[in-house]
Formats: sequence, structure tokens, C-alpha cells
Amino acid sequence: MNFFERRDGDLWAEDVRLADIAAAVGTPCYVYSAATLERHYRVFIEAFAPQPVFVAFAVKANSNLAVLATLARLGCGADTVSIGEIARALKAGVPASRIVFSGVGKTDAELAEAVRLGLHQINVESPAELDLLGQVASRLGARPSIAIRVNPDVGAGGHAKISTGGREAKFGVGPAEALALYARASAHPNLAPKGLAVHIGSQIKSLAPLEAAFGVMSGLVETLRAQGHAVERLDLGGGLGVPYFNEPEPPPPSDYAAMVKRVTAGLDVALEFEPGRLIAANAGVLLSTVVRLQDRPDRRIVVVDAAMNDLIRPAMYDAFHDIQPLSGPAGAQMTPADVVGPVCETGDTFTRDRPLPPLAPGDRVAFMTAGAYGAVMSSTYNTRPLVPEVLVRGDRFEVVRRRVEVDELMALETIPDWAR
Ligand code: LLP
Repeated sequence: MNFFERRDGDLWAEDVRLADIAAAVGTPCYVYSAATLERHYRVFIEAFAPQPVFVAFAVKANSNLAVLATLARLGCGADTVSIGEIARALKAGVPASRIVFSGVGKTDAELAEAVRLGLHQINVESPAELDLLGQVASRLGARPSIAIRVNPDVGAGGHAKISTGGREAKFGVGPAEALALYARASAHPNLAPKGLAVHIGSQIKSLAPLEAAFGVMSGLVETLRAQGHAVERLDLGGGLGVPYFNEPEPPPPSDYAAMVKRVTAGLDVALEFEPGRLIAANAGVLLSTVVRLQDRPDRRIVVVDAAMNDLIRPAMYDAFHDIQPLSGPAGAQMTPADVVGPVCETGDTFTRDRPLPPLAPGDRVAFMTAGAYGAVMSSTYNTRPLVPEVLVRGDRFEVVRRRVEVDELMALETIPDWAR
């Protein structure tokens, strides 16, 4: 459930009319609902109650400091994949003791910083990374807490590009190798293996692959214990899908939690999760204005001021984002339209043949479910500067990332004398 709703023909975010934000801030801009972020976090936690679970929000889904701070206030941790994300999490008020560091390409410098900070957990993805981390930790005289990322050979997700658990994916080590790595880590004086981690993909709409993967993980915990190792934690990643409109609803967190409890029953292990999309996707929208209509005899084409550089998901994953006018009477006649941005690529098409109400230049629309993997994936392609982000709470709103100016982009660049 989220706090974007239509009242008397207008679309609202909590108690703020989105048209008022568009008028005050300009478009394109992202708008996030604090109450929705909080609700999604709480629903997830409460699905497991009374069992306490540790939730580390996947910062890659939405790394805005105000969004992270909203979640940090509730005690939410952070799942990070770069020193930059770690810096953001710390700045937003997530203590190092609630930060997880994942990813296949952590560098020596990144691992050293993570060790120095004393993060909650470093998820190790390969034997080579384990060796490097062991060296780094010895050099620093530290003993970081680690988990071994397992590739259970169960892939899943809304698109091939976001499936991570199959054997051919670059992530983690197979089950047999995970056992060997755990033993190697246990024998290392400067490594403290705490558990295992898994993440098989994103926008997963069925519990079956998750259950299969978690079953593998439970078996590994038992095997490790039988071999004499302590296993305190099981990090089950993120991946649970969200409704993007007109598609079968993914299972709710309550069903997911019931499945997890069943699969991990009796294990007596601390459960950890890394949801991103589930918390942020339906907590954000991208506002845009119709620039012009480029109608053809056989096709209705609506050109808007947002483009693939602002929201790349349709171009990259053929993702579906519902498009809602910010204002307008209910029951308007719907006719098929293409909605496109100004970027010079055919890929800059948000949708084709989508039934939409009448739209005229100056009308405003919202791309829904854009709070996860929206602003974070934006670029300045076509020298289109990053757009503002706005956070709403109740009847208040504030710009939490200002619009970047073209001059600021160019200020990063120089022309050598010999290039003139
Ligand atoms: N943990 C790890 C190790 C991950 O790689 C990811 C996402 C997550 C947690 C969070 O997954 P979530 O709960 O959000 O599904 N840009 C793509 C999604 C990429 C997901 C990458 N990894 C998109 O726009 O659909």
C-alpha cells in the first residue's frame, strides 16, 4: 500500500497535491512519500514478528540522503555496494554496525575502508576476494565479520538482466565451494565468518525460486554446523517483487515471511534481509510535463520532458510504469498513445500503444512506481542535468536534491590548450 492517491480528480502524495510540487519545483522531478517508505519497512519487519530480523535497505535502489535518513530513523540498516554508498549511509545516520557491504568488485582500498569502519558484515563473493580481505584485515590488525555469498544455482527475477542466482551469473560461489571457503575463513586469524548470504534476483513474483534457494541455504547452515563451524547469521538478500500495475500481484511480505520461517524453522539463526524495491518502488513517482503532441495519422505520440536518462527502466528492461495524469476528470475517454522523451534514440520510449486519457501540451503526468532504480540510474546523457528529488511528509514537502545546472556539468571539464 502507498500514499499516492487520487482525490477529486487530482493525484496527491500524502497531503500534498502533486501538481503543486510540479508548479513549485518544475519538471521532471522525483517525488517520494516518507509515510510510504516507513510503512513498507514496518510491514516487512512486522511480517516476521515476534521474530526479530535485521533489514538492510539496498541503497542501490534509492540512495537519496533524505530517503536513507527516513529509514535510518526507524532502525533500518543499509546494504551497500561501494564506498560511495557506505558514505551516504553513514551520512544519513546509519551506524557502521548496521551496514552490509556486498558486490563482486570490491577493491583493496574499499575493503580496507570497510574494515577500518568496522561494518556489520562484508559479504564475500569469491575465493580471491576472501584472500584479499584476509590480507587487508591482517595488515590493519582487524577481524571483520563476514558472510560467504552463495550462488545456489536458482535464478529468478523480472528480467534476465536482473537475475543473479543462476550458475552462469557472476555472483557468489556454488554450495560446495561455499563450505570450503567458510572453513578457510574460520581458519584465518583475521576473519570472523558469521554466516551465509544469498540474493537470486530482483522483481521476483513467485515464492517458489526463493524457497528453493533458501532451502539450499538452510542445508548449508546445517552442514557447516555438523562440520563444527558456528553459523550465526543468514542473509537472505532482497528480490521480492512489487506490483507495477496490470500484472499478477507478487506475494505480500506476510506470505514471504511465512515461507522463510518454514524453511528456516529450527535453525536458530539471525535472519537478515536486503530489500530495495519492496521498500522504495511504490514510494516514489517521476513527474513530467507534456511538451507537445506529435500525432501521425496512424499514431498518437505524446512527447514529455522526462527521458530515458531520467528513468531508464523502460529502455533497459522493457519495464512497465503506469502513467497517470496529475489532474483530470475520472472517466475520460482512453485512446492508445506512445509516450516518448526528447532523447535522440528510439529507445527513449516509455510506452507504446498505452490507453491514455486526452493529454495536451503543458499537462502533467506521473510515472508511477519510480522510487526504486529511478533517480539512482539516471545519467546526464544528451546533457540533460540530473533532476530534483522531493520528499513529502504529511502536508509538507521539501527539495532534497536540487536541480543541477548545465554550467555545473561543464565546470567539471576543461579544454587543454592543445585541443583548441
Ligand atoms: N541485495 C543484493 C546483493 C542485490 O544485488 C540487490 C539488487 C538487492 C539486494 C536488492 O534487490 P531488490 O530487493 O531491490 O530486488 N536496476 C534493476 C534492479 C537491479 C537489482 C540489483 N540488485 C531494475 O531497475 O529493475
